[in-house]
Amino acid sequence: MKMLCSLAVVASLISLPALAATPAAQLDNKPAFIAGLIKKMTLEEKIGQLRLISIGTEMPQPRILQEIAAGRIGGTFNTVTPSENRPLQDAAVKHSRLGIPIFFAYDIVHGHRTVFPISLAQASSWDMDAIALGARTSAIEASADGIDMTFAPMVDISRDPRWGRTSEGFGEDPHLVSEIAKVTVRGFQGTSAANRDSLMASVKHFALYGAVEGGRDYNTVDMSPMRMYQDYLPPYRAAIDAGAGGVMVALNSINGVPATSNTWLMHDLLRKDWGFKGVTVSDHGAITELVRHGVAQDNREAARLAIKAGIDMSMHDALYLQELPGLIKSGAVSIREIDNAVREVLGAKYDMGLFHDPYRRIGVAANDPADVNAESRLHRAAARQVARASMVLLENRNQTLPLKKSGTIALVGPLADSQLDILGSWSAAGVARQAITLRQGLRDVAGDKVRVIYARGANITNDERIVEYLNYLDTDNPEIIQDKRSPADMIAEAVKVAEEADVIVAAVGESRGMSHESSSRTRLDIPASQRALLEALKATGKPLVLVLMNGRPLELTWEQAHADAVLETWFSGTEGGHAIADVLFGDYNPSGKLPVSFPRSVGQIPTYYNRLRVGRPFVEGKPGNYTSQYFEEKNGPLYPFGYGLSYTDFDVSPITLSAPAMARKGKLDASVTVRNTGARDGETVLQLYIHDEAASVVRPEKELKDFRKVALKAGESRTVRFTLDEDDLKFFNARLQHVAEAGQFAVQIGLDSENVQQAVFELR
Ligand code: NOJ
Repeated sequence: MKMLCSLAVVASLISLPALAATPAAQLDNKPAFIAGLIKKMTLEEKIGQLRLISIGTEMPQPRILQEIAAGRIGGTFNTVTPSENRPLQDAAVKHSRLGIPIFFAYDIVHGHRTVFPISLAQASSWDMDAIALGARTSAIEASADGIDMTFAPMVDISRDPRWGRTSEGFGEDPHLVSEIAKVTVRGFQGTSAANRDSLMASVKHFALYGAVEGGRDYNTVDMSPMRMYQDYLPPYRAAIDAGAGGVMVALNSINGVPATSNTWLMHDLLRKDWGFKGVTVSDHGAITELVRHGVAQDNREAARLAIKAGIDMSMHDALYLQELPGLIKSGAVSIREIDNAVREVLGAKYDMGLFHDPYRRIGVAANDPADVNAESRLHRAAARQVARASMVLLENRNQTLPLKKSGTIALVGPLADSQLDILGSWSAAGVARQAITLRQGLRDVAGDKVRVIYARGANITNDERIVEYLNYLDTDNPEIIQDKRSPADMIAEAVKVAEEADVIVAAVGESRGMSHESSSRTRLDIPASQRALLEALKATGKPLVLVLMNGRPLELTWEQAHADAVLETWFSGTEGGHAIADVLFGDYNPSGKLPVSFPRSVGQIPTYYNRLRVGRPFVEGKPGNYTSQYFEEKNGPLYPFGYGLSYTDFDVSPITLSAPAMARKGKLDASVTVRNTGARDGETVLQLYIHDEAASVVRPEKELKDFRKVALKAGESRTVRFTLDEDDLKFFNARLQHVAEAGQFAVQIGLDSENVQQAVFELR
């Protein structure tokens, strides 16, 4: 406060910031306006624009204000209220020499105040309208809190569930993730990133971060160019083509060169081939990490490599600030290179509307919300709707689900009443006390004929080392609070409760921190403390319903064999408890499908469905030596990509093709009739896969090319027509040309990646 007053005094003594005098007409011409501004800037001011600082971790508030006023900061992240952002913007606009606004960013990955289900869950909905609703709502909430940019969507394809950040992405498939990349960018940015209620999207982590070796976070990525182009790069490209204004650069190296110093990636591919015109930001401290990667001798070399590669802003390190002046002086970096980066930063600010009105999202103090967490600011109905659509029914023996709204339910498990865990990782400005747990959700949805009796039954884990690790980040606010009773006592209490009940609902899985950045796992089973609980519950003979909460595919062979029903709910957000209860009681008929394959064991990883063909394929039901398989257990995933049950059944007819062949530039229709053969209304996802019979390079067994979510009343049937064209048959050949080669193709349509109808056609 004191600092602000003194800045105000200083400002009153000096002339008004230059921007205050900018003629409005000049603002209409972006390139001219920015070029004019760059001309007025000192080298120090230019370098200042390239610095993105994290509030709360780098320096105390008075120092931040000083640095901003001195023109040494271009943007900040981690503030979440207008009243926090206003003084920072004042320091930039009212007290810096040129009055250039700063921008405010934040990790709004799956919600802001209202937390939507984690990204992997949203992908499970295969519902683009639902996902768009999540992004749009997040933008409305976050922009009302004075935020201009989100570090999202995170579109890293991940095929190794050991990676903790699997939870932040949208799964293993390039087509599905690309479709989601588009709708999320459009959802965040609305019709224009300059709108008052829009956020600029900064797609991440460019590139291939999800392919870290062994699923170990921050590890190396080594990948063939064909795989890169075919499978891993398309989602970033889709986000950029949809207009994402920013790109966050990955922490990993790619074939020996860190993304942060990778000229091929940042210049040749992103700017030249893809025509990206926005701003690039490094990830947290990534420029300094070039020294640890061993590609830079020291910080100076790291800064030189990064700026030359095309990293416009340096996040959370002062390296550009410290090193660029010396690099310019020595001639190692040219002023043109600095100007290029500055132009992108100013361009992004222009596109966010900040030169027109730096306070367009911050607003005036008189309108600041009295309580930023007020109930009225939440969008609970939207969150509940998206969460319901995100759940995947994995098992349902003897129609155990839906539950009756009468009788006694034993609710057990360490996740049944945890407000924090249900939010999932990166829960932004969401607060746990506003989250609906399953316990609360059951109470609210069940009605008064149901008695719910609760026992925790187990801790998330009994392994104190793991608890310590998960609590390490914030020791003042531990995420995991252990119940001090003995495991045996807790289980005994749960069994007692179960024995009184008609059915057991067990909420088990991972704590949210277990599926997070830097939370890679070597095992994917449900921790031993919870498995012991499940075994004891199973022994009661009561129907056992598992409600899974987790952020990655788990190894569920025991659960699959022993539970009567299994509902994958992921981390379902602020309204999670209501949404789960809606599904358990059948008020909502589950319609989600897995966006990732579930392995039978860690040893099977990777299990992604769109694997390349091999010379000695394993054929189910025909065991034999010298085929590509593991001999100790059943091959193939436990649950395949695209899989998910409903409370009703669907039947898909054989495929009708509009013609036996497709001409180049022509089209071909593939139609099926899907019928709801059960007694309930429901929704399912028709999935269309292409299998290229023979090509100049090895092609995947199948690839998703289209999908349609279809709602059908009980007994209703509908003919669904998909239209294919040459683009659907294209792939990157050995020379990285995107081509469709003439020959035979199979089109497959079904309700998951394994159970499909098939028809064959030719491309001529
Ligand atoms: C590091 C993470 O890798 C990235 O995803 C995130 O956006 C930044 N930190 C900022 O919080």
